[in-house]
Amino acid sequence: MNPNMIQQVHLKAPDNWINDPNGFIYYKGQYHLFYQYFPYEPRWGTMHWGHAVSKDLLTWEHRGIALFPSRYEDANGCFSGSAVEKDGKLYLFYTGVHYKKEDPKDIHVALDGDFEAAQLMITSEDGFTFHNITDKKVIIPPIVDPAIGDRTNTRDPKVFRGKKGWYMVLGSTIKNKKGEVLIYQSQDLSQWEYVNQAYKEKDLGWMWECPDYVETPGGNVFIFSPLGLMQDQMREDSQAVCVLADFCEETCELDISDEYRFFDYGLDLYAPQSTTDQDGNRVIIAWLRMPKPVDGKWSGMFCLPRLVEVKKGHIYFPVHPSVKKHFSKEIPTLEEADENGFRILTSLEEGEEISIGGYRIYREGNHICTDRKDVFPAIDGYRMQFQTPELKDGYDLDIYVDEHLVEVYVNDGEYVISNCVYGLEKKILAGDEKRLKVYTINHGNESEFYWWPC
Ligand code: FRU
Repeated sequence: MNPNMIQQVHLKAPDNWINDPNGFIYYKGQYHLFYQYFPYEPRWGTMHWGHAVSKDLLTWEHRGIALFPSRYEDANGCFSGSAVEKDGKLYLFYTGVHYKKEDPKDIHVALDGDFEAAQLMITSEDGFTFHNITDKKVIIPPIVDPAIGDRTNTRDPKVFRGKKGWYMVLGSTIKNKKGEVLIYQSQDLSQWEYVNQAYKEKDLGWMWECPDYVETPGGNVFIFSPLGLMQDQMREDSQAVCVLADFCEETCELDISDEYRFFDYGLDLYAPQSTTDQDGNRVIIAWLRMPKPVDGKWSGMFCLPRLVEVKKGHIYFPVHPSVKKHFSKEIPTLEEADENGFRILTSLEEGEEISIGGYRIYREGNHICTDRKDVFPAIDGYRMQFQTPELKDGYDLDIYVDEHLVEVYVNDGEYVISNCVYGLEKKILAGDEKRLKVYTINHGNESEFYWWPC
């Protein structure tokens, strides 16, 4: 990786492979975003934590590898986790995996999928220096009681602060059949005590990855990524979902509502993770799964950061205001669009359609639909058409486009459809061009954009 590489709009794999966002936090004046990173090939393998920083959630600077395997418990990978700040220090929590046996032909995967998972912690004084060899601490050893969770499939600690202390939600499974979340409590971030588990009776995947509990002024939300949720034999069968939820500190019970919705209706995004932004709002980002590497070189990127808002019991994911603000330069033609992307504002009448370089967005009754078949590789089993649930707030679209990712925000985040694309042409076809407004990045004062503290 080339540290100090700058990317705008969507944070992408600097090379090779990335998956989940990890340790997302606003810390000491900038956003830190770590991520699952395999530095050797554009495919999944022994996990490291890559690291990028941003001041505005639009321009990202890569900062190299923060965490790498260095001890028995994480010898085969530093899996996903989260960050919090306490007394000026950055605390990272993650899952360390140790394979029973490595596959002799490919040491980056476990033979027969057999491994042990422990939860670890590491701290940093400045958010950039991590002493991998000396500073890691096991905080939760592999689970031995199958009535609580699983020694293998327990992972992705997300830590948050309550009124009575710190809490952790940890994804797990009951006997590899039913997804569940484990809840731990701590006073000092170092000693953790198991306090409860939560799951649903109805079929909601066999394991819950990347749980996240998000409190917002309009209501609280539980977000998670159940493995094997979809039954249609299409890829991907694991999907990120969210539900209204409430965590009670007195009883340590997490009450999860029955009605779930997808985090994103393009069904490409996965493993979202939230944090609190500079202004105290909840902001969330997620991994875009890509079916094949770009130019055989890199795979994986992140969607635009979104707010998490609950209004009248509905969970909204509007694009973050800092991103909107930067996409404010109106342009007459796409020729003038920034190479990193453009934004289109429009709305659709019944039966209307626009095509963005071959990616179709259209309205059918009370739904907004998309079709990517002309800009996506013909690989069996991938979904090509998508649609929102029934819309209640109108048909306004705020669309962000870059070479490999189109994000369609409907009614300011009532629903979002984000799709991975390949070979998008730089042109727009619409029934009524007058109703389109096209914007690109307003670079304004460049020095402000490209200034980074040492
Ligand atoms: C989700 C996930 C996590 C795990 C990580 C490993 O995509 O499977 O559960 O920690 O990726 O890379």
